[in-house]
Amino acid sequence: MEKLWGGRFREALDPEVARFNASFAFDRRLLHADIRTHVAYCRALQRAGLLSEEEATRILDALARILEQAERDPESLAHYPAEDVHSFVEARLAEFVGEAAYKLRTGRSRNDQVSTDLRLYLREQCDLWLAELLELETTVLDLAERYAEVALPGYTHLQRAQPILWGHYLLAYFEMFERDRERVRTARARLNVLPLGAGALAGTSVPLDREELARELGFEHVAANSLDAVSDRDFVLEVLFAAAVLQMHLSRLAEDFILYATSEFGFLTLGDAVSTGSSLMPQKKNPDALELLRGKSGRIFGHLVSVLVMMKGLPLAYNKDMQEDKEAVFDALDTVRASVRVMTTVLRHTELHPERMMGAALGDYANATELADYLVRKGMAFRHAHDLVGEIVLYAAQVKKSLNELSLEEYRRFAPQIEADVYEVLSLERALASKRALGGTAPERVRAALQEARQRVNALRRDREAITSE
Ligand code: ARG
Repeated sequence: MEKLWGGRFREALDPEVARFNASFAFDRRLLHADIRTHVAYCRALQRAGLLSEEEATRILDALARILEQAERDPESLAHYPAEDVHSFVEARLAEFVGEAAYKLRTGRSRNDQVSTDLRLYLREQCDLWLAELLELETTVLDLAERYAEVALPGYTHLQRAQPILWGHYLLAYFEMFERDRERVRTARARLNVLPLGAGALAGTSVPLDREELARELGFEHVAANSLDAVSDRDFVLEVLFAAAVLQMHLSRLAEDFILYATSEFGFLTLGDAVSTGSSLMPQKKNPDALELLRGKSGRIFGHLVSVLVMMKGLPLAYNKDMQEDKEAVFDALDTVRASVRVMTTVLRHTELHPERMMGAALGDYANATELADYLVRKGMAFRHAHDLVGEIVLYAAQVKKSLNELSLEEYRRFAPQIEADVYEVLSLERALASKRALGGTAPERVRAALQEARQRVNALRRDREAITSE
């Protein structure tokens, strides 16, 4: 196939170098976006007087047919010997309209073209991703509400620490996903800038109305500097970073659920629809989907780092190294979006075991802090109360009793100020209810937080537009 740059060359490109150089195998994902930019650019050239109305009409008609054929038979693209998506479109266009196809390149380079295509593609991906994230958040809330007031142990260092409510626990992930959604939304807003018209690097001598081009392609702004427009990929990095952080959150939730689904914890059961078996051990039911959510973090973090490293030493402006951004960001988006959808499905197929969770909530002296706080209310400095309760716990462990089971007489041996009202303080209900300050796990706080979260999500669902417009 004709290359886009044959004139100054006398010898053919080495076949292996040609394969190494080519990107059509993966950048054909940008075909739809590339056709869109061709359409807008064709109109712009016509307005600038560089294409006749008749030429423009024929070109627009051919572009529509190229897209339609490619969509009807995507496999045909795989065999087309094009260097990249841009040369593919030009070659196909020439098949349809002859000479007029070559005029379309006036004032334009693949450098501003590829940055424009990629932004259009990523913008659309972000919209789909945001809708999927909203679905995930809705499902998180469903599961949080269903078991809102079931208590379970909260952990630090994976040791039982203090009791919390399930609603409170899941709302922690809701908050993380809210920030993730915000990161995707702002990344989308920042990439929504038009590079087309920057030419190869210096701008263009064609009298283009770039504002009009931007409007036509739905870009919020026109890139102010032509060098920057063709040479930065920070917008790719922002998408990769948003994906990496979200995947890290998904991975932690997956890890929690993998643990909670073990017989050792026994807090929850994953449905058959999201579990898999073992080829050897007939009794096994494995959380493969969650393990993959955790495992796929590695490749997304890798893509973020690979694009950072690829970019860091590049002199201005365009360098071919930047072609490496595409497989990274395509795979990261495929992976993170599938992960969001799979996590949503897993949450829909999760059953909790409230008795197991409640039973564990006060285990391992998880109400010891309540006793220390009680002593503080009786006038002791927290430091001393902490020491004393430590000794009480040590004693209770020796006599194999929980704090609720120690007699008043036993308590008084440690601290005479302890009275019969201590038992109330040690109850699960009181431990939870006492965390009343804003952001705590007291039932009324959790109820209010759930309600507030539900309102936020409902408002977004009502007005999906609000997600994508900034
Ligand atoms: N396939 C290239 C990329 O993805 C398109 C731009 C090529 N430009 C060039 N002057 N070689 O970056």
